[in-house]
Amino acid sequence: MLQQLVAAGKRTLPADQAYVLSTYVENPARIRCSLAEDAGGTILGIQSLTRAMDGNRFNTPIGWGIIGTHVSPTSGRRGVGSRLFEVTKQAARDAGLQKIEAFIGAANAEGQAYYEKMGFRTYRLADGAVCKAYDVEQ
Ligand SMILES: CC(C)(COP(=O)(O)OP(=O)(O)OC[C@H]1O[C@@H](n2cnc3c(N)ncnc32)[C@H](O)[C@@H]1OP(=O)(O)O)[C@@H](O)C(=O)NCCC(=O)NCCS
Repeated sequence: MLQQLVAAGKRTLPADQAYVLSTYVENPARIRCSLAEDAGGTILGIQSLTRAMDGNRFNTPIGWGIIGTHVSPTSGRRGVGSRLFEVTKQAARDAGLQKIEAFIGAANAEGQAYYEKMGFRTYRLADGAVCKAYDVEQ
């Protein structure tokens, strides 16, 4: 699924198994990594929530959550990302997070629209990226 996103020009990060394991699944800063799948077990999307640690690559304030969302290009705009965020939101509450930050490419209009719809608001601009923050209701 991530390799399909790369082929569709919607992902520039690596999409190999080792990267997925170390960044999403086995990341020591992981709070929750959720998968969406269809009835047949085909993966439709993945959403990662990690805790911002000292020196994180996004410069996110320490202790905030960092979110990443990746939905199959053949399953877009069908509510997969919205369903994933329901789970992530609860995980953020359970972990006691106050804020979550999304780091989105400045040219990524659909990513920005998605996070806006989920309730994120622009908080700062980084080099080539828009950073949106979400207030976690406790
Ligand atoms: C951005 C992304 C996560 C959205 O996931 P999704 O499953 O398509 O999202 P949903 O179907 O739940 O849509 C929720 C809302 O997001 C917005 N949205 C989603 N796709 C959109 C698009 N192509 N254009 C405009 N708005 C869009 C809409 O507001 C939508 O609500 P609506 O359909 O009621 O209008 C998905 O397109 C994706 O993985 N893109 C590639 C990777 C990426 O950009 N990740 C996020 C930034 S790092």
